[in-house]
Amino acid sequence: MPSDELTEFRHAVSRRARQAPAQWEASKRLVEGSTLPSTMAQLSDAIQRRDLPEVVRQVLLSLFDQPLSSRLQDLNSETLKSLTGLPPAKAVRALCVWFQLVPPPASKWPTTCLSSEAVEGKLRQLTNPFEFLAHADVASVLDIGAGDLSFAEELVDLYGQRCTQENRPFILHCLDRLDPRSRLGGPLHVEPERLHKLQQREGLSLSFFGNQDMFELGALDERGSLAPRYTIATCWAPASPTFAYEPTRLSQVLIAQDLERTRGAFRQTRYGKEVALEVQHRDRALLFPSWKFDVIGPRALLKLLAQRGVVCVLGSVDVQVFWELLAQLLDDPRYRPQDQAFHPENLPMIFGKIYEALTSLPVGESIDLAKLAPLRQKRSDSAGFLHTDDRDSTFRYVRITRGAIFPGMPASSTARKFSAMTEEVPPWLVTLIPA
Ligand SMILES: C[S@@+](CC[C@H](N)C(=O)[O-])C[C@H]1O[C@@H](n2cnc3c(N)ncnc32)[C@H](O)[C@@H]1O
Repeated sequence: MPSDELTEFRHAVSRRARQAPAQWEASKRLVEGSTLPSTMAQLSDAIQRRDLPEVVRQVLLSLFDQPLSSRLQDLNSETLKSLTGLPPAKAVRALCVWFQLVPPPASKWPTTCLSSEAVEGKLRQLTNPFEFLAHADVASVLDIGAGDLSFAEELVDLYGQRCTQENRPFILHCLDRLDPRSRLGGPLHVEPERLHKLQQREGLSLSFFGNQDMFELGALDERGSLAPRYTIATCWAPASPTFAYEPTRLSQVLIAQDLERTRGAFRQTRYGKEVALEVQHRDRALLFPSWKFDVIGPRALLKLLAQRGVVCVLGSVDVQVFWELLAQLLDDPRYRPQDQAFHPENLPMIFGKIYEALTSLPVGESIDLAKLAPLRQKRSDSAGFLHTDDRDSTFRYVRITRGAIFPGMPASSTARKFSAMTEEVPPWLVTLIPA
């Protein structure tokens, strides 16, 4: 691709790499397996933002905005060579230096080296996804919206001793938005005694971050408190209504109306020194943390899980969250009708055979979602560039299991309460492997 601008760019890139030995050395971390997907995404963003000759930008975008470009071997090595004069790994490093990408701080937490193919192969053989911890090179779990830590405790009871016997560290990081000092939130608070006992467990690196929004992890990352990626990222009984409405398909007005119709009138109030949310439910006024009705939607939750977990597990997903979540996992946009809230009456029509299959799935049984309908794919526009939102939230494998608790599998306290909730249908367990 002879062009003066391309030749000039190549010289400038290799000159910058030679003249910045510290950045060049640091760039090694940007092409390591666990960091590479984020490096590719950052490069693609930088290419779109920076002032570049159009011919150079187009060639660069053709490299970094392709659906498959999340491994070095997927990149077009000839194009890379003509752009930088270097073989693939060095070429990407030189571009990182040129675009001034900053490597993440070296993490003290190990991450698994297993490829997603190997993970999928193993996980398909396991009915209990947490058994994967016994097979992976690193036993690490992130539990988001962890509530009272009963799931954490059960997980440690089941796998902690095995890890200790095998001399493998067990890393368990848990977080919840509930402020431990708050008088709202009732049974979801962690009992100090449970936390203390967990922190004393031999061979376990346990951290609990209270008053911590799962979508505000920047400060914890900066302090190195979290691993960049965990072998399993899990969320039990994902909060409702937080994840029961998807703002990319439902307007704020519709969400507010539906909330009021299904939950009751609500308003901000005070409870002692705290700000609280008051919900008028039938003849009772219920008090919650002020952020209880913040609606984020399942797409953001899936994206977070995919970024943080090699395997992702959503346990005890109730009927309100489940269909909205499922709509985000399926490829056909007809499952995401614009500005139409899901209700028991319209679900059979919108989801058709999928609805039938998943509502009639016996408790304890599983289904590979791809067998019911194609999974959501990364999409590109007519020029071949990936839609930004699709970069981090597509999955290569999704398994749906019916039920709240399963023999031999750890479960949260909410999951264990399901059988007593006579008005609730059995929830679903969703096991996912990011694409
Ligand atoms: C239904 S409870 C489930 C708790 C626990 N996982 C269980 O299954 O028993 C949902 C939890 O998510 C937490 N939560 C809601 N929004 C959150 C957010 N943005 N970041 C972190 N935690 C959040 C709530 O405080 C609550 O503890």
